[in-house]
Amino acid sequence: MQRSAIKLRRLLVIAAVYLASLPGLAAGLRNVNVRIPSAVKRGDNALLICNYDIENDTLYSVKWYRGRREFYRYTPKENPAWKTFRKINEIDVETTQSNASHVFLRNVPTSISGKFACEVSADAPGFDTYIVAADMEVVELPTQRPIITGIHSRYRLGDVVNGNCSSDYSKPAANLTWWINDIQVPPNYLRIYDIQRHLAEHLESAVLEINFVVTVHHFIKSRMKLKCSARIHDIYAQETEKMIEEDRPRILASGRSPDINMYPFDQPGDVDEHNELFLIHSNVAAARVSSPTLLQLLWSGLCLVGAWGNLNRNLER
Ligand SMILES: *[C@@H]1O[C@H](CO)[C@@H](O)[C@H](O)[C@H]1NC(C)=O
Ligand SMILES: *[C@@H]1O[C@H](CO)[C@@H](O)[C@H](O)[C@H]1NC(C)=O
Ligand SMILES: *[C@@H]1O[C@H](CO)[C@@H](O)[C@H](O)[C@H]1NC(C)=O
Ligand SMILES: *[C@@H]1O[C@H](CO)[C@@H](O)[C@H](O)[C@H]1NC(C)=O
Repeated sequence: MQRSAIKLRRLLVIAAVYLASLPGLAAGLRNVNVRIPSAVKRGDNALLICNYDIENDTLYSVKWYRGRREFYRYTPKENPAWKTFRKINEIDVETTQSNASHVFLRNVPTSISGKFACEVSADAPGFDTYIVAADMEVVELPTQRPIITGIHSRYRLGDVVNGNCSSDYSKPAANLTWWINDIQVPPNYLRIYDIQRHLAEHLESAVLEINFVVTVHHFIKSRMKLKCSARIHDIYAQETEKMIEEDRPRILASGRSPDINMYPFDQPGDVDEHNELFLIHSNVAAARVSSPTLLQLLWSGLCLVGAWGNLNRNLER
């Protein structure tokens, strides 16, 4: 029993090899390949192409699958030649723009992301069949640019810059990148957080933290451009910038009445705790050392009130 089965198998293999060696049959279906966009925006159309050389064979059918489900079949001998299987998929094939090599999908939903395969079969006598697959992801784009948070507008050398870049909900989450003066920051400046999945919306968001100590190298003419970019495959790219000024230490002459032209406060919105503390101390000292005039007393009072206001504003942040 077993022996005859093996014999039959061997015979079949020999027959197959013989058939394949016959001229004309060897040159059947070949060079089957697909051109499928790796990413498409939700709601866009997508054109999927299956290329093949049929040579002297005749085409029997071309079948398209999403996962294991067939959604389109082209059989030239039938009338009409095409058949769609739409009910079980959310795939909307535009049949007037589809044929033996192309399949045109309308208004793609995110749910169809995944593996797409083209199966080409030749007719008798060869019946060659090839199947080739590629992934296509239908992307939901973020509705807004990446957002930079926690970055101040001024830093001194030695300060720590620590902030976040976050991308709005999308699917998949965007790839975020930080840049300083248009140079991508090294990995040791970064802290990567897990992608957040928003199950109700079927969307995702990403956060990338930047953290580094400011050195002279980060400033060009006392300015530093911080930028965060968000990318999704090759179909989405947006960026957000923040300009930073170098904050130089202020030198206050002690024992001299402060010059009204050297008004030492930062502009509103500037944030630097060390600065305010420094001002409080130096002004109190200045007031003590020299014999205070009425103007000086008034001045240090104003300074303290101002500094207190700034400090409060900082604490509120
Ligand atoms: C196709 O058939 C023709 C004629 O029968 C033959 O000359 C040609 O070599 C064949 N082409 C291939 C690629 O086999
Ligand atoms: C198939 O349809 C596409 C348009 O979707 C067209 O560009 C192509 O020429 C057609 N090919 C054939 C063999 O009809
Ligand atoms: C950045 O975002 C992460 C995650 O939400 C948070 O844990 C972290 O504290 C944030 N960092 C800064 C500097 O705001
Ligand atoms: C993010 O970048 C990685 C590495 O370059 C890449 O493999 C991935 O596809 C990208 N993801 C998106 C959503 O663009």
